[in-house]
Amino acid sequence: MWRRVTSLSPFISSSKPSIRNQASYGGKIWELFTTEILTPAKAGISSDEKTPFITFVVGGPGSGKGTQCAKIVETFGFTHISAGELLRREISCNSEHGSMILDSIREGKIVPSEVTVKLIEKEMESSKNNKFLIDGFPRTEENRIAFERVIGAEPNFVLFFHCPEEEMVKRLLSRNEGRVDDNIDTIKKRLEVFTALHLPVIKYYSEKGKLYKINAVGTVDEIFEQVRPVFAVCEATK
Ligand code: ADP
Ligand code: C5P
Ligand code: MG
Repeated sequence: MWRRVTSLSPFISSSKPSIRNQASYGGKIWELFTTEILTPAKAGISSDEKTPFITFVVGGPGSGKGTQCAKIVETFGFTHISAGELLRREISCNSEHGSMILDSIREGKIVPSEVTVKLIEKEMESSKNNKFLIDGFPRTEENRIAFERVIGAEPNFVLFFHCPEEEMVKRLLSRNEGRVDDNIDTIKKRLEVFTALHLPVIKYYSEKGKLYKINAVGTVDEIFEQVRPVFAVCEATK
């Protein structure tokens, strides 16, 4: 079980790009965020078993977040909490918010943060683990602020899967999981929402030195070889 804390130490740091004129960077805006891994000594990770170790996993739709989370779980023993999966579960059990969530997902819109954060909180509280991968969250500044307020914690670091749009579209159209939002019309809306609302979140964590950017193009194993060292540093400090 975990207890609430107010702040946790990062073990990665990033450059602090100036983003005075976002428009002039166009589609290259994501390129501005770069990260280096620091040594464990500099990192100062707590080994307190009760303190939750929280990683947010962010990136566009189809960038491979869920796929890489499964490998992180297998290799490093984290508990995977996918915000999208929690929301889909609410639809399938006809919960109080089920129909509102279904409408939002169909339209590629973001579900109100209070709903999503409550679901995440419930998962964290019912887990015996204290290491969490929170996937597909935060999508917006509102998501981020609601998490800090309700959970009373910040992520130790944030993994950002950076993938070109055309590659994400290709992957989503061949995902074949029967999802109501994996069709070209909804995909376009999801990409618009991602571009419009996600940048401030990425910028926030980059400036806090918590962002680790992963190049999400390549095979699943090649990508995991970029992810592994981030978590290996964490293991080394135990
Ligand atoms: P996300 O959780 O970010 O939406 P997923 O992990 O579900 O993305 O991946 C989307 C689709 O792309 C899935 O069908 C998955 O099998 C596939 N996929 C994941 N990683 C890769 C990769 N590196 N190369 C090609 N396809 C991939
Ligand atoms: O992450 P995933 O692709 O599974 O998310 C599917 C949909 O769930 C999103 O397009 C959005 O409608 C909803 N969602 C949300 N808030 C989140 C995560 C997902 O509203 N933090
Ligand atoms: Mg996913």
